[in-house]
Amino acid sequence: MQTGISCVSAVKCNTDEALLHVLADMGASFDCASKEEIEAVLKLGVSPTRIVYAHPCKPISSLFFVKRREVSLMTFDTVNELHKVKVSYASARLLLRILPEQEFDARFKFEGRYGCSVTEAPKILQSAKDLNLNVVGVCFHVGSDIRNPEAFISILQQSRTVFDIARTIGFNMKILDIGGGFPGQKNTVRRFKEITEVINKTLLDLFPPEENLEIIAEPGRYIVASAFTLVANIIGKRCYKKPADVDRDGSKLVERYEKDRRKYDDLFSE
Ligand SMILES: Cc1ncc(COP(=O)(O)O)c(C=O)c1O
Repeated sequence: MQTGISCVSAVKCNTDEALLHVLADMGASFDCASKEEIEAVLKLGVSPTRIVYAHPCKPISSLFFVKRREVSLMTFDTVNELHKVKVSYASARLLLRILPEQEFDARFKFEGRYGCSVTEAPKILQSAKDLNLNVVGVCFHVGSDIRNPEAFISILQQSRTVFDIARTIGFNMKILDIGGGFPGQKNTVRRFKEITEVINKTLLDLFPPEENLEIIAEPGRYIVASAFTLVANIIGKRCYKKPADVDRDGSKLVERYEKDRRKYDDLFSE
């Protein structure tokens, strides 16, 4: 990616303390989605200026907490959230989360859960202005493990439009947070390269260096997918959507119950 893009690790992807330590020691910044994640990162001695509170809908108690701990950069996507920020942390620096207009193939889609449309943006930004709040940029998430790099072209075009709308309302926005979505498994190096090339080119076209923006990315999967294996003990199985690819008829699990029976028979017969 462009050398100017700073990396903010998404804590929700893996809260392992050893990992957070390594990232903190390497000078990474952190995307935290909750008070608990922020506490975990602050406990490592990370400066509050290296944290983005990246959840557009926050409990008011958490807003009072981050004000005390001076974590000032945070996301929002509604007028309602602005009213909450106004009463709890009026000097916060706010990133408007926008919703991708087009759905591209991603392993995990947010399906419209967060973010406002470009059409809603003027009203929300005007409300922020009327409330005298400080909107400093735009953020988004294209969906996790994106397959098609064009997803970034499309959302960066939307971001440009929102930057221009914000200027007409009186905000000189300086931060563009391009979120996560990057693949991280061992066999995805080529795809990662393709995606980052598209991002770099589009950023150069739409947000020329003279604008002096701070551009940040929030990779999660990219950092942890090939470094960790999640182990879970499956205790039962019920297919409610479509048969799973592996062990379609559940016979493997039944075999395991048999093994368990023998294990427990042995254990309790001693
Ligand atoms: C706001 C935000 N940023 C970053 C991430 C990390 O995304 P990914 O693992 O796709 O890189 C997530 C994941 O849900 C997220 O919600």
